[in-house]
Amino acid sequence: IRARVFVSRRIPPKALQMLQAGCDVNCWDSDEPPSRKGYLDSVRGIDALFCLLTDKIDAELLDAAGPGLKVVSTMSVGHDHIDLQECKARKITVGYTPGILTSATAELTVALLLATSRRLKEGMRAVVNGEWGTWKPTWLCGSGLDGSTVGIVGLGRIGIAVAQCLKPFGVAQFLYSGRSEKPEAESIKAKFVPFDDLLQTSDFVIACCALTQDTAGLFNKDAFSKMKKSAIFVNSSRGGVVNQEDLLHALTSGEIAGAGLDVTSPEPLPTDNPLLKLDNCVVLPHIGSATYSTREAMAVLAAENLLAGVRGEPMPCQLD
Ligand code: GLV
Ligand code: GLV
Repeated sequence: IRARVFVSRRIPPKALQMLQAGCDVNCWDSDEPPSRKGYLDSVRGIDALFCLLTDKIDAELLDAAGPGLKVVSTMSVGHDHIDLQECKARKITVGYTPGILTSATAELTVALLLATSRRLKEGMRAVVNGEWGTWKPTWLCGSGLDGSTVGIVGLGRIGIAVAQCLKPFGVAQFLYSGRSEKPEAESIKAKFVPFDDLLQTSDFVIACCALTQDTAGLFNKDAFSKMKKSAIFVNSSRGGVVNQEDLLHALTSGEIAGAGLDVTSPEPLPTDNPLLKLDNCVVLPHIGSATYSTREAMAVLAAENLLAGVRGEPMPCQLD
């Protein structure tokens, strides 16, 4: 018998066709998520779930699905939205999509860093609003990367790729912090330092860490107060690693120079959020992996993970 699969959103057609070839697929055919109730109803009796990073996969949802659910496959590298312990307790295998989105996410992180440090948001607005006036020697100056110190918090695949992208800009030194020293750091000659040292020394502080118990709210009042007044903070990991109240204070009080965020909490960020009014804060709508080819590759890998799981085979990318 064919496995029953729920796909929680419209996904690239190639991945959907792969799933349909082997399974009975119920696809929520919209870019908008189902309501929580709609989600709980849709998972009832399924064997496998194809989900996104915005879907909360917790005990309640797993209970609603029932004991037949054996596979959860997320189209994301991040998996903080999935309760892995609950999955493990139910012997549900979980797949994710590391690796293939690394370069797209690193590229977006660099774009966000440059947009923030070189004040592109203010510049673009000035052109449109007729504030350009004339070429002014001191207008819209920002910090350059040449000769700078870049600190990367969480030197995983994406952190390394960000450093490799930034190196040609003339970065003088890379620092990183995290749970452990990484042999891969050698390729960019990055130095492993305590978190506080990284904050104090870096001109650019980039969060590339996963959201875990250890990193939740890591960038708080204390952390921002240790950064240079000229520091640019960039986050392309998860909004939850930042205390946004504290970031707002750091940006408005001049404790740091600017922040570029591809991720926030909540997402979407309400349009009346004060961060959006600030000249020195650039906010993007979680588009790190959003290239055509990357999104298709993520969906295909998530489909491959799901199909392997359904067959009882090891997934190409399985979490454990
Ligand atoms: C994007 O944030 C992902 O986790 O894939
Ligand atoms: C995510 O892919 C990471 O390890 O940085």
